[in-house]
Amino acid sequence: MSLPRLGLLALTLTLAAPATALDKTGLQDLMVQCAACHGADGIAREAEVPDLAGQHDVYLYNQLKNFKSGKRPHKEMRYLGRHMTDDEMQAIASYYAGLPKQ
Ligand code: HEC
Repeated sequence: MSLPRLGLLALTLTLAAPATALDKTGLQDLMVQCAACHGADGIAREAEVPDLAGQHDVYLYNQLKNFKSGKRPHKEMRYLGRHMTDDEMQAIASYYAGLPKQ
């Protein structure tokens, strides 16, 4: 398979993944906001924003908890996390952990 085709395949997989993974969690509305900064594929487009794709799920979950509690101070992330339940944080963490790194 040529490189451009591989790229297209990766793109198709990335676009297909959110539909299935997020249907189960009911988190679409929330995660549209995450995508604005962290990218729909979990790869951030800005240097100040960390990539989430392929990160360890336990690490991501702990960061979300820390943002919510204020242990890890960050204005936007605390604001976004303020109503997240434990189940939602776990679902988000495993969703991003399952995306391919780039
Ligand atoms: C306004 C832009 C913005 C939005 C929207 C946003 N984030 Fe973030 N996020 C950031 C920035 C910036 C950081 C780095 C925070 C820091 O410097 O401590 C971050 C950090 C994180 C981290 C920690 C990553 C690491 O490597 O330590 C996680 C996990 C995370 N965000 C998840 C999410 C989720 C889930 C959503 C949607 C609910 C979301 N973010 C929405 C900007 C954003």
